Amino acid sequence: MPFKSFLRGDSSVEITEVEEALEEYYDVEDLEASPIDGDNWLSVPLVVDDEYFVKVVTPQNTYTHSVFTLARNIGARVAGSMPFFESFDSPLEMAEHELKAAERMRKAGVNAPEPLDVVPVDGSALLVFEYLDGFHTLGDVDVDEEILEEVFVNLRRLHENGLAHGDFSLENVLVVDDHVYFIDATNLSNGSRDDAVSYDLACAIGALSTQLPPSEVVAAAFDHYSEDDVVHAADFLVVVRLRPGIPEGFDVAGVREAIEDEIGEPL
Ligand SMILES: Nc1ncnc2c1ncn2[C@@H]1O[C@H](COP(=O)(O)OP(=O)(O)O)[C@@H](O)[C@H]1O
Ligand SMILES: [Mg+2]
Repeated sequence: MPFKSFLRGDSSVEITEVEEALEEYYDVEDLEASPIDGDNWLSVPLVVDDEYFVKVVTPQNTYTHSVFTLARNIGARVAGSMPFFESFDSPLEMAEHELKAAERMRKAGVNAPEPLDVVPVDGSALLVFEYLDGFHTLGDVDVDEEILEEVFVNLRRLHENGLAHGDFSLENVLVVDDHVYFIDATNLSNGSRDDAVSYDLACAIGALSTQLPPSEVVAAAFDHYSEDDVVHAADFLVVVRLRPGIPEGFDVAGVREAIEDEIGEPL
C-alpha cells in the first residue's frame, strides 16, 4: 500500500460496527453512518444521520499521530524551541484530549462545533461532534477581508485564553454561512506557550498567504498580535512549510519580506 494511503485510510474501520456502538451508547435504533470525503489524516470522519459528525480514532491513527508529533517536535527544536507537542498512548486518550480541547475552545468564545461525547469501541474511540451542514473548508472558499478578520479574531481569542491550536491549516477551519469554525485542535502541553502561539501564528500566516497576498495576511496578523509575536512566528515558517496540509504555494520568502516591510528592518 502506498505510504500516503496507509496514513490516510484505515481499513480496520467497519461502519456497521460504528453504527452498532453508537446505537448501544445512545440507546437508539437504525443510525446511519456514512464516510465524509475530507482531507483527513488522523481519523476516519463519518456523518451520522446528518446530525452528528463522528471521528473514528483507531490505534493506527494514534500511531500516525505520534509519527507526526515526533516530526513536529524535531521541527520545534530546529526553530530553536523546546519540543511542545504531546503524543498519546491510546485512541481513547487521543479522543478525550481533542474533546477537552474543543470544550476549552468554545468556553474561550472561539467558534467551534459542539463536542458531545467520546464512545469507546473495541480498542478504538468515537469522537462525536455536532455536524456542520453545508460547510466548506477555508481552502475551498474565496477568503475575503471579513473571513480573514474572523480567523485572526478567533485565533487571538484562543491565545488570550491560554490555549493554542497546534494544527492550524486550511482544512482545519470550516466556513458555514460566512462564519469560521475551528476544528481539530490538539491541546498543547504547558510550558512553551509563547512558542505554541508563534507556531500557530506561523501556520495561520503560511496557510492564508496561499489564498491572499502575503502583505495582506501579515498586515492582518499585525492588527491582532504584537511585533514580538509575529517576528517570533517567522522563526517557524520554514518548519511550517514542511508540514503535511500546507499547500504548495506557500512562499516563505514572500511572507518574510512582508514582515520585514511591516517592521521596517531585516528579520
Ligand atoms: N463538525 C463537523 N461537521 C462536518 N464536517 C466536519 C466536522 N468536523 C470535521 N469535518 C470534516 O472532516 C474532516 C476531518 O476532520 P478533522 O477533525 O480535521 O480530522 P483529522 O484529525 O482526521 O484531520 C474535516 O476537514 C472536514 O472536512
Ligand atoms: Mg484535520
